Amino acid sequence: MTHIPVLLQEVVEALEPKSGAFIIDGTVNGGGHAKVLAQKMGSKGTLLGIDWDPKAIARVKESGKRFPARTIFEEGNYANVPELLKKLNLGKADGLLLDLGLSSEQLTPTGRGFSFSTSEILDMRYNPNEKVTAAQVVNGMPEKELANIIYQFGEERLSRRIAKAIVKERKHKRILTTGELARIVGAAVSKNYEKGRIHHATRTFQALRIYVNRELDNLSSLLTHLDQCVEKGGKVAVISFHSLEDRIVKQKFQELVKEGKGTLIAKKPLLPSREEISANPRSRSAKLRAIQLI
Ligand SMILES: C[S@@+](CC[C@H](N)C(=O)[O-])C[C@H]1O[C@@H](n2cnc3c(N)ncnc32)[C@H](O)[C@@H]1O
Repeated sequence: MTHIPVLLQEVVEALEPKSGAFIIDGTVNGGGHAKVLAQKMGSKGTLLGIDWDPKAIARVKESGKRFPARTIFEEGNYANVPELLKKLNLGKADGLLLDLGLSSEQLTPTGRGFSFSTSEILDMRYNPNEKVTAAQVVNGMPEKELANIIYQFGEERLSRRIAKAIVKERKHKRILTTGELARIVGAAVSKNYEKGRIHHATRTFQALRIYVNRELDNLSSLLTHLDQCVEKGGKVAVISFHSLEDRIVKQKFQELVKEGKGTLIAKKPLLPSREEISANPRSRSAKLRAIQLI
């Protein structure tokens, strides 16, 4: 499934890329946002596109040839942008974008273990060089800790019940696929889970993905070091997809405002229109917050 960039017009308006600007896209994936930003920056502009997923970087490198600005694509964790800028001998940027979470391509069955719609190896790492897989967590973590992760990162009320069912099952046989895990979660919760509003495995899968990739730590780390990545006067836009991420963005931006280091570009987060949600249902939980550094 092709990924449709979320809140695209809003991102362009928030970052306002000028001709010749230097913009960092920390989660570039297929370059949906990056390409439109590059069009505004023109041939004198520079776009640094980062993604942790080597497959996404390989793909965007191919299409990068058609970008109107100078492009540099790097496989890496956006939490390391300050080090990356030094390594590449680049100064601070005029703008930075983070569009968090998964792309549609990563969600479609690709054998990466993000999807529970088919049975795949329980992996969930954005980058295969990272050490811990979801299967290792599910088969090795003590029950209490597993329940805590499902509760904390999945905001799943039934976390204890789900962790108990996982531990019971793994005593007989290691849980190795997304299909097995989804089935175990399904058997642990009621048939009328959340009145059918969301799939019973959504929250447990979200929790494991956040834990395996240290997603909230990465976000906090980059937002703590924004002054090493973006010039004064430069702009930062973050699209989040759930309350755990949005809370971090909101708090970090509020801290910058309090310390006199930033002004919010919009007081309230920007949300997708009804038209965008109907054209791209994946956008329904998106929230964009943006700040200008001062
Ligand atoms: C929602 S997609 C971005 C889509 C992109 N804005 C577009 O419109 O084509 C999020 C991307 O972030 C990447 N990602 C997740 N965590 C990351 C991290 N810590 N560092 C770099 N990339 C990360 C994922 O691999 C994924 O490709």
